[in-house]
Amino acid sequence: MKTGHLIHFSDARCMTAVADDSIDLVVTSPPYPMIEMWDDLFQKLDSAVKTCLSRQDGPGMFEVMHRVLDPVWQESFRVLKPGGFACINIGDATRTIDSHFALYTNHARILSAAREIGFTSLPCIIWRKQTNAPNKFMGSGMLPAGAYVTLEHEYILILRKHGKREFKGAEEKQRRRESAIFWEERNHWFSDVWFDLKGTVQALADAQDRKRSAAFPFELAYRLINMFSVKGDQVLDPFMGTGTTMAAAMAAGRSSTGFDTDTHLTPAIQRTARGVKPLAGQVAARRLAQHQEFVEHRLAAGKPLKHANEPYGFPVVTSQEKFLYLLVPADLIQTDATRFRVTHEMAQLPFTYSLFDN
Ligand SMILES: C[S@@+](CC[C@H](N)C(=O)[O-])C[C@H]1O[C@@H](n2cnc3c(N)ncnc32)[C@H](O)[C@@H]1O
Repeated sequence: MKTGHLIHFSDARCMTAVADDSIDLVVTSPPYPMIEMWDDLFQKLDSAVKTCLSRQDGPGMFEVMHRVLDPVWQESFRVLKPGGFACINIGDATRTIDSHFALYTNHARILSAAREIGFTSLPCIIWRKQTNAPNKFMGSGMLPAGAYVTLEHEYILILRKHGKREFKGAEEKQRRRESAIFWEERNHWFSDVWFDLKGTVQALADAQDRKRSAAFPFELAYRLINMFSVKGDQVLDPFMGTGTTMAAAMAAGRSSTGFDTDTHLTPAIQRTARGVKPLAGQVAARRLAQHQEFVEHRLAAGKPLKHANEPYGFPVVTSQEKFLYLLVPADLIQTDATRFRVTHEMAQLPFTYSLFDN
């Protein structure tokens, strides 16, 4: 199986290069309104941001910044196929403006814009982030009635264009079966609180690159892609940054398109792509090894696993996992400055499976 990965260094408010109804899944994280690191970018995109900032008008600035993002949500809706999902990682912001401390609810503002556009809002995920910062207490410290609750979570908003996706024809139905996730992963991944995303074995790109562009963890994009798309699908990230979504699509056997206005990200994106093969191998090996561990515990507890997975020959809990197999990139080449082509093969078991022999 082959997938293609394309980068557009242009403004995602106008994604004319992407046809209507052509994308299966959007996975993205925009610049966060009201977080100071993104002030310059928003000011460049709309001068009204600067006017609000000089007037110390927090609510005005919040609204103008979101009006910069709104067209991207509109464009995402246009390019998504009916039944396609959009997963948007966004955090709220706290900020003191003119001595007034307030919470700016980015997630709520994006949800209301998305609903107006026509998206259906589905149950979302709270990503509980680990923070060990010593200065995390805000306000009056130990003295009552002036301290503020610390923001230790972000959101992953889950939206859908129109109703449920239909899988038509034998080939598409089989691709869906082969893209199943393990029963035990389903219980974990479809929980509405994600506690840790430390699973990534190896960092992508350069730690500094990733920090500068506020990259989300590889595991976040990889899970969402496996939860909301099937092998061979088209994934879009309108704010691709260092290319984490592209890397996760490459690892999971989906094609991808990414947009970013910052051409300086080119070396970081290339470093990300170079890291994909070893990372994808480790991620697949870990998932398969975790399934083996799960099977051993379940059998030891006297609980049955009634079904057999055909590609790997190991037991699984449900018949939906019968055709499940994981992909890894066998060959990854950059065909020009903004394109990659990946050939995928089935991930092999990192161990010899012997449970059926016993
Ligand atoms: C939060 S970062 C995305 C990080 C990314 N998820 C990653 O893992 O590296 C947001 C990105 O959006 C880009 N950006 C901001 N406005 C944009 C626009 N209108 N169109 C395309 N990209 C934009 C910024 O340059 C930045 O790289």
